[in-house]
Amino acid sequence: MRLFVAITPPPAVLDDLEARVAPLRPDWPALRWTARPAWHVTLAFLGEVSDDTAAVLGPRLGRAAHRHPTLSLAFASAGAFPGRSRARVLWTGISGDRPALETLARSVAAGARRAGAPPPDEGRRFRPHLTLARCREPVNLAPLVEALADHAGTPWTAAEIHLIRSHPGPSGGPPRYETVGTWPLRAAQPSPQPG
Ligand code: 2AM
Repeated sequence: MRLFVAITPPPAVLDDLEARVAPLRPDWPALRWTARPAWHVTLAFLGEVSDDTAAVLGPRLGRAAHRHPTLSLAFASAGAFPGRSRARVLWTGISGDRPALETLARSVAAGARRAGAPPPDEGRRFRPHLTLARCREPVNLAPLVEALADHAGTPWTAAEIHLIRSHPGPSGGPPRYETVGTWPLRAAQPSPQPG
């Protein structure tokens, strides 16, 4: 089965992002815009994983999650892969606890590797993002990147990680995502009160 590990923003944050993105879609009908129910931030893409390996992934991911505190994040600005003038992916980025998010992503990848599901991209720079649209042929997305440059989304707390199975979409359509496991991050310690 095809698996990845991700965090998912709460509904109010998705509402806010949707409100910002919706007015842009009509002018760019050739893009394959991602649908709100599919929105997520990938921590590690694992690719094809056997049933046996998937069965031992859970405890590893649970242990990795438990070692890391909850994260304060917000969607911010936008960018394009591989570059804005000949782009295939439009994304919004992440601000807030980015170093901690990167550390978490590394732990998740290491846990998956120990379970026998090494992420094919492990070792590549982690670039946290949420994919807003894709295109089959490279296209100049600079106007969209600029339109979203000042985006500063509602802050949110990532409190858990999810193992998500990607089912191929019918006749080349978008994949369907199914959450097959969820593990909590460690609750942030309350700061000591004076007196
Ligand atoms: P993307 O949003 O930038 O396409 C499921 O495909 C998730 O895993 C997506 O968030 C996707 O990132 C991510 N991913 C990372 N590497 C991938 C790869 N080599 N193939 C497919 N998806 C990948």
